[in-house]
Amino acid sequence: MEEYPIHMIMCTMIVFRVMQLIPHIRSRALKEVCLQMMNSEVTLVNNFQNRDSWNTISRSYQGEKRISLQDVHYGPVAPGERKLNFLGDVKGKRILELGCGGGQNSIVLTKWGAEVIGLDISDIQLEHANTLAKEEGVRVQFVQGRMEDLERFKNNTFDIVISSHAIGYADDLKAVYKETARVLKPEGFLVFCFEHPIYLTIGSALEEWDFKKVKNYFDRNREEWDWSCFDGTIATFNQGNWSIKEIINDCIEVGLHIIRIEEPQAHDIANMDKKARSAVPYISAVDETHDNYFNKFVQVIRIIPFSLILKAKKS
Ligand SMILES: C[S@@+](CC[C@H](N)C(=O)[O-])C[C@H]1O[C@@H](n2cnc3c(N)ncnc32)[C@H](O)[C@@H]1O
Repeated sequence: MEEYPIHMIMCTMIVFRVMQLIPHIRSRALKEVCLQMMNSEVTLVNNFQNRDSWNTISRSYQGEKRISLQDVHYGPVAPGERKLNFLGDVKGKRILELGCGGGQNSIVLTKWGAEVIGLDISDIQLEHANTLAKEEGVRVQFVQGRMEDLERFKNNTFDIVISSHAIGYADDLKAVYKETARVLKPEGFLVFCFEHPIYLTIGSALEEWDFKKVKNYFDRNREEWDWSCFDGTIATFNQGNWSIKEIINDCIEVGLHIIRIEEPQAHDIANMDKKARSAVPYISAVDETHDNYFNKFVQVIRIIPFSLILKAKKS
């Protein structure tokens, strides 16, 4: 993958030059090509910022979260695959995980008998994934790449494409859906989860009891935000502000038909015993005495959903 700083400089120069030229270009076709070029450069800049930021926080993130190696997770403190049963029997199925991060879901699916490829943009996240797979004694193929561009995979290759809390980082949601539809076998399906637009709109305001922090649901601009890990490591990310309409209609438009939606309520971990708690597949802090274990975030996602999980079938 190309190096970030040189690419950034080149992208920025090209984007500014094309922006200056656009109003003067008479040919509609050429204008269209220029706009497409600009969009793809901006996509790469956004992708590379997220890659570098995941590289920055990966070690701290993987150290502070408890992510199951026995169940597929669909986000913090939410019920996992054993309870929700989105995937059915995966034995012998070819599965692609988009934005596999530290590889936990890919490893679980491999343990359950699937043949899995985990794709992620961050080399450090993939390093963690490879180490974990080795420790767990399973063979998973992890590859570095962008989920917007699955060119390396042939048409009709996978039975299932899965993605947990990663598609939200995509710069071009429709491109991800389009590529997913192409690589899925006929009758194959996509299971994916996002941060719920309800949470993105009012989550922080509720956590801080500050209603100035309520966001405008109709503001569809991409958002930059800082992620602070417990050890003080900070990095800046960018994410799409997809509306429910976009999440669903863009999917249908590329031939992926939504067949199920879930909006799970977070487990009441503060009142669970240790055994029940240990079966929750994703907990936001490994340290059970840590403030963040029973924090405002968990209280808020008991009253509004954090994850929006969808299943869409290719037909
Ligand atoms: C919140 S993590 C989730 C990781 C994993 N799915 C999990 O649940 O533990 C998001 C992941 O998406 C990856 N990512 C972000 N943008 C990406 C892109 N455009 N293509 C592929 N991976 C991407 C990041 O590197 C990161 O590992």
